[in-house]
Amino acid sequence: MGYSKKLRCLLLLVVLLVVTYASGEDPYRFYTWNVTYGDIYPLGVKQQGILINGQFPGPQIESVTNDNLIISVFNSLDESFLISWNGVQQRRNSWQDGMYGTNCPIPPGKNFTYVLQVKDQIGSYFYFPSLAFHKAAGGYGGIKIASRSVIPVPFPPPAGDFTILAGDWYKRNHTDLRAILDGGSGLPFPDGLIINGHGSNAYTFTVDHGKTYRFRISNVGLTTSINFRIQGHKMVLVESYSVLVTADQPPQDYYIVVSTRFTSQVLTATSILHYSNSAKSVSGPPPGGPTTQIDWSLEQARSLRRNLTASGPRPNPQGSYHYGLINTTRTIRLQNSAPIINGKQRYAVNSVSFIPADTPLKLADYFKIPGVFNLGSIPDNPTGGGGYLQTSVMAADFRAYVEIVFENPEDSVQSWHIDGHHFFVVGMDGGQWSSSSRSNYNLRDTISRCTVQVYPKSWSAVYMPLDNVGMWNVRSENWARQYLGQQFYVRVYSPANSWRDEYPIPSVCRVLILVVDWALGKLDCRMRLSLTTCNVVPTNSMRFERHLKSNYDCLKCKIKTHDVELRAWRFTTCVQRGTHFPPFQSHNRTVSTIEFSLRRKRERERDNTSFFQC
Ligand SMILES: *[C@@H]1O[C@H](CO)[C@@H](O)[C@H](O)[C@H]1NC(C)=O
Ligand SMILES: *[C@@H]1O[C@H](CO)[C@@H](O)[C@H](O)[C@H]1NC(C)=O
Ligand SMILES: *[C@@H]1O[C@H](CO)[C@@H](O)[C@H](O)[C@H]1NC(C)=O
Ligand SMILES: *[C@@H]1O[C@H](CO)[C@@H](O)[C@H](O)[C@H]1NC(C)=O
Ligand SMILES: *[C@@H]1O[C@H](CO)[C@@H](O)[C@H](O)[C@H]1NC(C)=O
Ligand SMILES: *[C@@H]1O[C@H](CO)[C@@H](O)[C@H](O)[C@H]1NC(C)=O
Ligand SMILES: *[C@@H]1O[C@H](CO)[C@@H](O)[C@H](O)[C@H]1NC(C)=O
Repeated sequence: MGYSKKLRCLLLLVVLLVVTYASGEDPYRFYTWNVTYGDIYPLGVKQQGILINGQFPGPQIESVTNDNLIISVFNSLDESFLISWNGVQQRRNSWQDGMYGTNCPIPPGKNFTYVLQVKDQIGSYFYFPSLAFHKAAGGYGGIKIASRSVIPVPFPPPAGDFTILAGDWYKRNHTDLRAILDGGSGLPFPDGLIINGHGSNAYTFTVDHGKTYRFRISNVGLTTSINFRIQGHKMVLVESYSVLVTADQPPQDYYIVVSTRFTSQVLTATSILHYSNSAKSVSGPPPGGPTTQIDWSLEQARSLRRNLTASGPRPNPQGSYHYGLINTTRTIRLQNSAPIINGKQRYAVNSVSFIPADTPLKLADYFKIPGVFNLGSIPDNPTGGGGYLQTSVMAADFRAYVEIVFENPEDSVQSWHIDGHHFFVVGMDGGQWSSSSRSNYNLRDTISRCTVQVYPKSWSAVYMPLDNVGMWNVRSENWARQYLGQQFYVRVYSPANSWRDEYPIPSVCRVLILVVDWALGKLDCRMRLSLTTCNVVPTNSMRFERHLKSNYDCLKCKIKTHDVELRAWRFTTCVQRGTHFPPFQSHNRTVSTIEFSLRRKRERERDNTSFFQC
């Protein structure tokens, strides 16, 4: 990566800012990303996609456990934008999680620098745009976190390392899809599947005969669960989710296949596994995969086990390597549903369909801004009642060890993700979960993950250490469901208020303090802003106007900003004609930029009542 000298200085500055809470010994990796629209052709038709540095999928993050990542994101779109980091645990650092509940969006034309550390974890993950259904336009890329060399993995280094970002795709763009959802309908069936941005047979992985390769696999799609297989080859699962594949078959080309699961129409996309000494191109139909076999799927999912005698990094919740021996302190049952609310399709969990607040919940929590959310606004158990809208936040205690049962009474497959944590999938089965289901839990050698599938009319249970203070998004990974409310936040709270438990608020993440001073006698007004808003320092122009009406004398202070979120604001004050204006007044508001724009109208109305009526 080449940086201009100026940029390097900037990055150094950022480093100085963060060095106080990132271990000085862990290396830094710097990325500068420009997010733009550009033409892409995933299914052969031209579409406007979201590119990162001109690429779709975006550049891969290559990191090693404990690396610090400094990622400057410049938003060159015409809409606000946010990036989240699927699977990155953000230890002590929900400030950088990039969900709408934790971060202000990056306004068009602005930039934000994410400062995060891939602490104590390995694996294959991905980043994606978390706002406004942008995920349907791309904007995603792989994140690879390799094990540190001091902790050897139980297999020789593979001859190559490939990333597979697969998922469903629509020919309609994200604004059209968003309009369908906003209009109260569910998402239509996707138009196809893609692998690394390409439709069938447009992507080739070249291997040498006899060597072993690693494939890192992520489902980056919007709504369908997918199956992955390689014609004629065995895959050994070594991490979530990567597999080792040995090129031990006769040298020719083979299909790499992804296909949809639990869909009545099956979509398939293929790539090519090409032996460098291949004698033959791919032949025959691509091998078929499972579609709706729930029992087979449960069996397969339960067969994923950790090899307890193998070396390599191992999770140790609460300082114990035996996740199954720790007593749980709370059981949370989460049931998904698809209610119609106010005539529109919504999706809910325990009957609550999440609606975003004006202010990021994390900031509202930090600045104690009242009225944004209430703790306990989502119950711990299914209510069986109809769906309702709410900015739902669940309260939870730092260091608790919880059992979460995801219950899926619907006919479609479900996928749940929890930010900031990893969990142990102790059980899953068909039918209704009950306390006696616990007798079949795997308390020995299940794998830890951050996303779990819940098969149709089935349940999945996990044990999760709440070892990360912060505000964390719990969501359906079915993106239409997430967008229409199947998500909430869990606030993991420690009263200690210590850097040991949570990093301090980043300096670029302040809430806007807007102070308007009126020097009415001098017919002047001034606006003072605290150094930064969420992401932006608005530049502003002010205009002072006087309006004489028959009975009243009104002064208007007009504030224009270059910030699209803020745009313009007016303060008006009036006195009875012939009387004097009070010499000085001060308006002092603490709002985040988003809240500011959304509240603008309301505030303006309130202003009138706080002064003389014009
Ligand atoms: C981002 O890319 C666009 C289009 O190529 C370009 O106009 C803009 O200057 C770039 N911005 C940055 C910060 O590099
Ligand atoms: C945005 O980019 C400018 C120019 O590179 C830099 O000075 C500023 O610190 C960046 N702001 C954030 C919030 O990253
Ligand atoms: C999406 O497509 C519609 C036409 O179907 C078009 O009007 C709109 O501008 C497009 N939006 C984007 C962001 O490309
Ligand atoms: C578990 O790991 C050990 C040590 O690497 C290995 O010998 C053994 O074959 C592995 N077991 C399975 C089932 O893979
Ligand atoms: C778990 O709870 C049981 C019963 O209350 C108790 O006997 C046991 O010691 C506890 N185990 C741990 C690890 O705290
Ligand atoms: C805004 O008002 C509050 C309470 O009235 C005060 O504590 C704070 O200092 C004021 N902020 C500014 C920037 O004047
Ligand atoms: C408040 O005052 C503004 C400016 O005079 C006016 O446009 C607006 O309608 C008033 N709002 C209410 C609720 O009276």
